[in-house]
Amino acid sequence: MQVHIELKKVVDDSYDITIDTLPKIHFDTKVAVVTNATISKLHLDYLLSKISAKELHVITLKDGEEYKNQESIDTILNSLFEHRFNRKSMLIAFGGGVIGDMTGYAASIYQRGIDFVQIPTTLLSQVDASVGGKTGMNNKYGKNLVGAFHQPRAVYIDPYFLTTLPEREFGAGVAEVVKMAVTFNKDFFEFLESADLKKPEILQEAIKQAVQTKADVVSADEKEHGLRAALNYGHTFGHVIENETAYKKFLHGEAVAIGMVMANEMAVKMNLMSEKEALRVKALLEKYNLPTSYIINDVKNFYETFFLDKKSSDSSITFILPLGIGDVVITDKVDVGTVMCVLNKFGKA
Ligand code: NAD
Ligand code: GLY
Repeated sequence: MQVHIELKKVVDDSYDITIDTLPKIHFDTKVAVVTNATISKLHLDYLLSKISAKELHVITLKDGEEYKNQESIDTILNSLFEHRFNRKSMLIAFGGGVIGDMTGYAASIYQRGIDFVQIPTTLLSQVDASVGGKTGMNNKYGKNLVGAFHQPRAVYIDPYFLTTLPEREFGAGVAEVVKMAVTFNKDFFEFLESADLKKPEILQEAIKQAVQTKADVVSADEKEHGLRAALNYGHTFGHVIENETAYKKFLHGEAVAIGMVMANEMAVKMNLMSEKEALRVKALLEKYNLPTSYIINDVKNFYETFFLDKKSSDSSITFILPLGIGDVVITDKVDVGTVMCVLNKFGKA
């Protein structure tokens, strides 16, 4: 005997991303702002001058990727239970990608899912992490291995928050902006080549274009069945570099910058991109002081580490390779000889 459950769903998870000075927002429900001490010292008063709610709480987590774990998620959940949050209550993620990913994940599991809003405060989170609903945490097996797709109800991007961002963190965000341009938008890439992102109006335009690119990709492929994987350009190599350097030497965006240079090397070798185009990408990354070189100590080990990537299977590695500037191909059909040849170019002399 079989019992059938009919579950064809039509869900409207659409939302708006506002790129402007943070407006005054009132929530007619209980709200918890999730943040960390670094951000709250700099910007919590400003945030609290803008938002009001039926009841407002602030949950302050420890600052750092190493705290993107179950303990921090439990801190959020326990606070929600203690304050008797219900299924209509709301979370606000106020911080960089670490806070955004964890707040979204806690929202996705609290009483089987409540709403949340993103107010990102780093460039990386404004142009990438706050948009698209990927939420999660790390565990001892690796980064972002536990999580859920849970879209925010709204995203408010106020570039003002970036005025306090350390230079290196700014650069790490620029790497993700360059990623969006190389993969999807040649005009945007040319804009970035001639632009000075330190100028507020130029920065706001770059954020807008990067967010529009990401929004288009997520609208087309929310759950990463295909196209969305292109946003991992530079990440296949970058993740191995982060892993090899124990997540200490490079910020994520810095490792991605080197990863993009490596992916370009592969694309040039396969005649997908010209050497001149690869040099233009490198020059743009270097304009924002991003690292573009790396010496692989053990090429064989680097190759083996590719297989820890979520996008790879037991027998094949997924590479995101630019087709010139402004287009991209997602492939798991690069032969081992080509991969090793590229890795050897970065290997010890
Ligand atoms: P982060 O959240 O660790 O922030 C970087 C540092 O900047 C932290 O010390 C933070 O306290 C500080 N900071 C934040 N805002 C500040 C401000 N306005 N002024 C001064 N300091 C400030 O790092 P990140 O680069 O924002 O995010 C990285 C995380 O995002 C990673 O965990 C990554 O996995 C995740 N991520 C998620 C997605 C996604 O689609 N969900 C995409 C990309 C990255
Ligand atoms: N940062 C990659 C993605 O959101 O898919």
